[in-house]
Amino acid sequence: MEKIVFNGEIIERSKVKVDIEDRGYQFGDGIYEVIRVYNGQLFTKKEHINRLYESAEKISLSIPYDKNEFLQTLEELVAINELGTGIIYLQLTRGTFQRQHGFPSSEITPTYVAYTREMPIPQSLMDEGVKGLLVEDIRWLRCDIKSLNLLGNIMAKQKAAEAGCYEAIQHRGKEITEGSSSNVFIVKDQCLITRPATNLILNGITRQVILRLCENNGISYREEVFTINDLLEADEVFISSTTSEVMPIVQVNDHAIQSGIPGPVTRKLQQLFKQEIEKK
Ligand SMILES: Cc1ncc(COP(=O)(O)O)c(C=O)c1O
Repeated sequence: MEKIVFNGEIIERSKVKVDIEDRGYQFGDGIYEVIRVYNGQLFTKKEHINRLYESAEKISLSIPYDKNEFLQTLEELVAINELGTGIIYLQLTRGTFQRQHGFPSSEITPTYVAYTREMPIPQSLMDEGVKGLLVEDIRWLRCDIKSLNLLGNIMAKQKAAEAGCYEAIQHRGKEITEGSSSNVFIVKDQCLITRPATNLILNGITRQVILRLCENNGISYREEVFTINDLLEADEVFISSTTSEVMPIVQVNDHAIQSGIPGPVTRKLQQLFKQEIEKK
């Protein structure tokens, strides 16, 4: 029987019931995280929990658990479900209340759910690289919040899938923002470039690990806005996320990135990322 976390308790999945007036269900009024698990160990767990609490604060949702307690329960769940390599998905909504747009007038308890899922590392895709599709970014102006409202992201990803692409590379006008569920990097003249973490992108935990790896290994980088043209003319392009790690993009729309194979800086970062996982 699969176990999940429901409002802080580990219980059987079949016993969970969420009300139809839960604000996550009705409004997407909540936040979430996805944490990678490698060989039963949570990767960058503190960073994910910190970002969860930051997202909560940004939407004035108060989490009724302390961070250590939170992590302890997730680690217990991974052990009980005997998860090797996969993910933990977790979300908190504002809770259940008679439908009204404004926050509930009396205090309610957030609904908290977490579950595990096996998910292998996408090794062959990481070796060969994948295609990206340019899609106009139609999302709201608080993409820094890891909110349950993902319609814009979903529609972008669907467009990419229909075009036979792995990821949508979103842009606002000429400027690249981020993927539908990833951050975007280019390499030009040996320098890694990624967009600064403002309100227009999610500051990915993988993005932060990559920038730290650059810092510690003498790889030069800049956090700078870049355009569609910069992307198409880049020496290398890759995306990053918890589930895709460092994923080379070898083609964008019908345009091959250089010779259409993953480049040396991307390869180096994949290798450093692997070492980082093994350290934990
Ligand atoms: C919109 C968006 N940007 C970036 C990322 C990458 O974030 P992380 O590296 O923390 O997984 C995600 C992950 O789901 C995302 O949804």
